Amino acid sequence: MAGNRTFTMIKPDAVKAGHIGAILEKINGAGFRIVAMKYTKLSAEKAGEFYEVHKERPFYGELVEFMSSGPIVAAVLEKDNAVEDFRTLIGATNPAEAAPGTIRALFATSIGENAVHGADSDENADREANFHFAGTEMF
Ligand code: RTP
Ligand code: MG
Repeated sequence: MAGNRTFTMIKPDAVKAGHIGAILEKINGAGFRIVAMKYTKLSAEKAGEFYEVHKERPFYGELVEFMSSGPIVAAVLEKDNAVEDFRTLIGATNPAEAAPGTIRALFATSIGENAVHGADSDENADREANFHFAGTEMF
């Protein structure tokens, strides 16, 4: 993926609240190209596997329950400097600390239910993209 792709999910809270369209508009407006996208739902087992890196954190159980509570939109996005620029676009994990105009400032309700996921490194973006998509589903 060589630094120009990232992986995102629109989380169950934002899907439930009807924000898919508005969030995709922000993503496109910021210059990201959609490489892959699907509307899907994670089982608790799959959500646990996806967030395995947080297994020892106190919020892990809550996170797995939340991420498997309803449908999500999973997507691979392309842009120069994708991982870092997407993290800037979504804002801080806690929406109370997210910069004005960021996706989390606009659409997140709490530190746990924070509207979107963004990969935090090129390596994780690659792992997460391959977790959700076959090579033939990325264009
Ligand atoms: P993400 O991986 O979803 O893009 O979020 P992030 O990098 O900004 O934050 P991270 O530390 O990776 O945490 C992953 C997700 O766990 C939930 N969380 N809850 N209750 C809490 O204190 C807490 N802290 C984190 C959030 O859904 C966070 O996005
Ligand atoms: Mg993270």
